[in-house]
Amino acid sequence: MSSGGEVGIVVVVILIIVVKLSILACACRKRFPVSDGSISQDSQILAVTINNFLKNMEREKPIRFTSQQLRIATDNYSNLLGSGGFGTVYKGIFNNGTMVAVKVLRGSSDKKIEEQFMAEVGTIGRIHHFNLVKLFGFCFEKNLIALVYEYMGNGSLDRYLLHEKNALGYEKLHEIAIGTARGIAYLHELCEHRIVHYDIKPGNILLDGNFNPKVADFGLAKLCNRENTHITMTGGRGTPGYAAPELWMPFPITHKCDVYSFGMLLFEIVGRRRNLDIKNTESQEWFPIWVWKKFDAGLLEEAMIVCGIEEKNREIAERMVKVALWCVQYRQQLRPMMSDVVKMLEGSLEIPKTFNPFQHLIDETKFTTHSDQESNTYTTSVSSVMVSDSNIVCATPIMRKYEIELASSTE
Ligand SMILES: *[C@@H]1O[C@H](CO)[C@@H](O)[C@H](O)[C@H]1NC(C)=O
Ligand SMILES: *[C@@H]1O[C@H](CO)[C@@H](O)[C@H](O)[C@H]1NC(C)=O
Ligand SMILES: *[C@@H]1O[C@H](CO)[C@@H](O)[C@H](O)[C@H]1NC(C)=O
Repeated sequence: MSSGGEVGIVVVVILIIVVKLSILACACRKRFPVSDGSISQDSQILAVTINNFLKNMEREKPIRFTSQQLRIATDNYSNLLGSGGFGTVYKGIFNNGTMVAVKVLRGSSDKKIEEQFMAEVGTIGRIHHFNLVKLFGFCFEKNLIALVYEYMGNGSLDRYLLHEKNALGYEKLHEIAIGTARGIAYLHELCEHRIVHYDIKPGNILLDGNFNPKVADFGLAKLCNRENTHITMTGGRGTPGYAAPELWMPFPITHKCDVYSFGMLLFEIVGRRRNLDIKNTESQEWFPIWVWKKFDAGLLEEAMIVCGIEEKNREIAERMVKVALWCVQYRQQLRPMMSDVVKMLEGSLEIPKTFNPFQHLIDETKFTTHSDQESNTYTTSVSSVMVSDSNIVCATPIMRKYEIELASSTE
């Protein structure tokens, strides 16, 4: 073979390659008609997306902070947001602008603090839901045990029920009720292990900058296996006025205690008031019982007028009342599942006819053991089972056993 022949073959091969390449290029242009740089741009975008995705995945896990980092973020704990039974909460801001709420845990003993720490990190640190407050991270050092949460710009729900009553309209309140119910339903029904919150109340429903509700404060929450229908409470606590009757008596406790508390919260949303307003002398009657009496007598409309609910909001308010009455049933078995509560509040599930949730207060006097002087059955029963700012309640053995505390009246 001559060298000229070899050159000829090489030229032909090159030609074939060039033709193939240009065909390919055409095909490519057809598939990516934007511009010549589009392929590399796409892969860049993909790389960024994956990086963000991986970062987000990492972020899903709570981060461990040092006490030094938290001291800097909170500006030496100079901006107090609030304090409750489990700790003091400060506002913090990281270098990158992320705002957080830092809860410094408090307790009567190191063991108690550690238990609370584990309850919170073990529950809210492992799950994510739009209606549950997000745990960014924590600090666990000898001198500081703290939890770092997403910052909730609009504070807690009780502020809008008690003080800034006109800031939120009924429709918004209805949405808040539904969101809250979704958060609790998730804890009860969708987590691998059922989580019981034990302390649902307006002060524990936080609102972000758009008034989206997020359930917070898992200090009492205990994980329990969903197959275990009954929980034994050891050292748990609830808040009077919201805590279900079984928490006060030697009855088995289930996740339905959260349903009861949610019902009490619904009453307060409808009334935009505390259920038992001790300062307001005209309405000494417990609001839920007052509502039931009106409902039972077919006078719900009248009740709505007394509560100042406008005509256009009556339908959703009525729905909330009916669901509330259903949630606070004395017998836990009669209370609905939270996922059904969501549907009933949305109006996609019919609300069944309710039984009188307060029958036991009328025909049983056995719970009214601490008060001799009061003859009114309602008042005595209510104060023994529900809120009162007197010390009678504290004296009950069950309260001591479960270390149930009175709600602070300053909130
Ligand atoms: C932070 O506050 C504590 C107590 O108020 C004080 O003793 C300490 O000096 C402060 N530290 C800084 C860095 O400002
Ligand atoms: C900001 O910084 C904090 C603390 O280092 C980190 O947890 C958080 O993910 C950061 N936020 C963003 C948006 O990068
Ligand atoms: C709620 O939060 C938003 C965003 O942070 C703020 O602009 C608004 O003033 C807040 N509203 C109230 C009533 O606090």
